[in-house]
Amino acid sequence: AKVTYVEFDGTEHVVDVPVGTSVMKGAIRNNVPGIDADCGGHCSCATCHVHVVAPWRDKVGEATGAEQALLQFADGVDGGSRLSCQILITHDLDGLVVTMPEVQG
Ligand code: FES
Repeated sequence: AKVTYVEFDGTEHVVDVPVGTSVMKGAIRNNVPGIDADCGGHCSCATCHVHVVAPWRDKVGEATGAEQALLQFADGVDGGSRLSCQILITHDLDGLVVTMPEVQG
């Protein structure tokens, strides 16, 4: 599925992320800057914070309990904030757009 990652400065990276792969891994594997993912996707670092743009929030869904708790440690959290290692790509998410915060962690 096609995912567009938008850096804080507006630079866009369009990447093909396989279904079943997390938004975080899609960024790391394609050298997209702006997602650190220090814990490697175990929902324990909060340095993979992204903002899901408004039109996609319903499809992506809400953060789960553990993720919600961790997000409190991220900077600039808003209504579309998610930990990108906890968003798994599905066919429905083809065309997803996420933006990255200015800093991670
Ligand atoms: Fe650490 Fe997502 S990669 S919480």
